[in-house]
Amino acid sequence: MPSLQEQILAYEQEINAFAPATPADLEQFRIRFLGTKGLVKLLANEMKSVPPEGRKEAGMLLNGFKQLAEARFAHFSALQQSAAANGPAIDISLPGTPIPMGTRHPLRVVENQIVSIFEKIGFSVATGPEIEDDWHNFTSLNMPEHHTARDMQDTFYVAQNPDWVLRTHTSSVQARILESQPLPVRVICPGRVYRNETISARAHCFFHQFEGLYVDKNVSFADLKQTLYYFVTEMFGPDTKVRFRPSYFPFTEPSAEMDISCTVCGGSGCNLCKHSGWVEILGCGMVHPNMLRNFGIDPEVYTGFAFGMGVERITQIKFEVNDLRLYSQNDVRFLRQFQGL
Ligand code: PHE
Repeated sequence: MPSLQEQILAYEQEINAFAPATPADLEQFRIRFLGTKGLVKLLANEMKSVPPEGRKEAGMLLNGFKQLAEARFAHFSALQQSAAANGPAIDISLPGTPIPMGTRHPLRVVENQIVSIFEKIGFSVATGPEIEDDWHNFTSLNMPEHHTARDMQDTFYVAQNPDWVLRTHTSSVQARILESQPLPVRVICPGRVYRNETISARAHCFFHQFEGLYVDKNVSFADLKQTLYYFVTEMFGPDTKVRFRPSYFPFTEPSAEMDISCTVCGGSGCNLCKHSGWVEILGCGMVHPNMLRNFGIDPEVYTGFAFGMGVERITQIKFEVNDLRLYSQNDVRFLRQFQGL
């Protein structure tokens, strides 16, 4: 039978090597060493058989043994408590959870492109409110009350105030610029506009426009054509052709619509250009003298041009998106296609 000393030494080695994998292991340890029938109690009982002259030394040994077992238990139970509070330990060798990349909305991608193309030739960005009053959306743009041209756009009125509308075009920002900024002005105005249309692949009750306005001395139609030609070659490539067709807008005279050669088929005929080889992209013209007068500007001294285009239309041509509804459905399968742009 090994002496008390030898037994304690062996148990101390066991205690020092002990490391619990689970709380159950630690409980086993507690029962084995510190329980009511545990080894500390058992060995204390054996003190009786130690001769009196060895008792002091044996008592100190036993005490050390007890303290070691208690310290080891306290150490691991503290560790297990903090692990329970902090969740499982982190395994730094595991591969990380990928963070999915977001995408810019295609309309925003195109709007940013348009802005940077016009900024290069000295246009600055201006914005205006989406809820407009009659004056800025219609009347000041040479569309007084009962003017038939108001019917060109189906308007949403704000129920609380018959003078307020959801702006039907960004031309309202032209009005705000002319009333507030000193001449010359050279601005582009991106923004959301609203029309009371039935939603379909080709029409929506809200969409985005992009307005341009340049008013100074000696601004001519040639400046307008050159500016727009520069824009489309930057946007769609140097081989893009343009053509202007006479049109009508109350706030421009003369007015035109501009087409570009079809970017999909190059002019030979496809669905986008409806087999004509041309796609319409914007309306434009020389700012109407009446509109200039509405803002106290003398049309004999100053002239200007304006243009307005649909951002959805430009995006449709650029990315061949054939259904307007896709832009507002937030379907990630659609949006992911524009990743990295
Ligand atoms: N505001 C016109 C529209 O919404 C577009 C336009 C803007 C035409 C500026 C001429 C000049 O249809």
